[in-house]
Amino acid sequence: MTPARTTAVPRPAGSADDLLPTLPGSWYTDSRVFAREREHLFEALWICAVRAADLEGPGAFRTVQVGRESVLVVRDRDGGLGAFLNVCRHRGARLCTEESGTVRRTLRCPYHAWSYDLEGRLVAAPHFPRMPEAVRAGRGLVPVRLREWLGYVWLCLADEPPSFEDTVIAAVTERLGDPAAVERWDIERLALGRRVTYDVRANWKLLVENFMECYHCAVIHPELTGLLPEFAEGYAAQYFVGHGAAFARDARGFTVDGGAGFGRLPGLTAEQDRRYYAVTVRPQVFVNLVPDHVIWHRMFPVDADRTVVECDWLYAPEVPASGADLERSADLFHRVNTQDFAACERTQLSMGSRAYRTGGVLVPSEHHIGDFHRWVAARVPAPGDADAGTGPGAS
Ligand code: FES
Ligand SMILES: [Fe+2]
Repeated sequence: MTPARTTAVPRPAGSADDLLPTLPGSWYTDSRVFAREREHLFEALWICAVRAADLEGPGAFRTVQVGRESVLVVRDRDGGLGAFLNVCRHRGARLCTEESGTVRRTLRCPYHAWSYDLEGRLVAAPHFPRMPEAVRAGRGLVPVRLREWLGYVWLCLADEPPSFEDTVIAAVTERLGDPAAVERWDIERLALGRRVTYDVRANWKLLVENFMECYHCAVIHPELTGLLPEFAEGYAAQYFVGHGAAFARDARGFTVDGGAGFGRLPGLTAEQDRRYYAVTVRPQVFVNLVPDHVIWHRMFPVDADRTVVECDWLYAPEVPASGADLERSADLFHRVNTQDFAACERTQLSMGSRAYRTGGVLVPSEHHIGDFHRWVAARVPAPGDADAGTGPGAS
């Protein structure tokens, strides 16, 4: 079956139209732009925060940065999950400063010891036994909207969150061409085989743009291009609806040397075998789907020029449980990540240069990055001339 294309493959005609403008450099360096992005994207959309299985048992918690807020995700006594702003309702101390942990029964503020149960209710305030019930009820932790999907906890800080179905699920469906396609990996059931956290000195948008294009693949990803020969042509798998890049004929698995990987995940169809799919869920999730595992990236912008990426390698539960050596399997995409993030850091170095004041250009195989730029620009108010210089699309 010939995969449908999102757009016709641009055929360079040698005209100026072959080159489209990027965002200007200031959009990658300006802290005011970054603050607006946090507010209008990361605090407005659904954000993939933590892996649900990381919160094992009642009282397990993880703290995660969503936009400008620290959010606490907690497993309650019934096995459900709740999310709250990580702010004590007494005088505002940060409730949990650890990244993760487990509490016995309550979340206790380290400042004056107000305590909240695992559902966020205020249950004790020392030396104030007669706090009126109405006051106590109104001083619970501030809840954050939460959805679980594909084994991950997604959060949204917006008062009126966008439809999860029309945004997150639609993005995956749009890429894979079929709402049932991703379900066949049964990601919720998979087990964590490896996790690497990357601290990347680059603006988050450079990471998204990099993940969207494959113009760089033949240049910086020798192992990946060896395994997926069509990547040498410069078109990302994401360019085509439903298309997975085919493995090289002599590749036995998605491994760093093309050697055998693990068994095909049981739900996959023959058509999904020996193929690589990549999905971006804006603004911060990248997923790679291969026959025997899933590589799931969550990206957390820290500053205009710094982004932390947590990357999970997920396998059929029996694979890590058997003590199998995951090295050759996981090392392939770890190398790809390292190669990509080095390229992003190299690019970040120039974003403040006068040579990039009006930005760069997108060649035809990168034109779909223009959609991403328009998506950002439509949501993030451009800094006024008075405070930050050029806006998107300016040239
Ligand atoms: S600030 Fe938390 S108990 Fe006082
Ligand atoms: Fe890459």
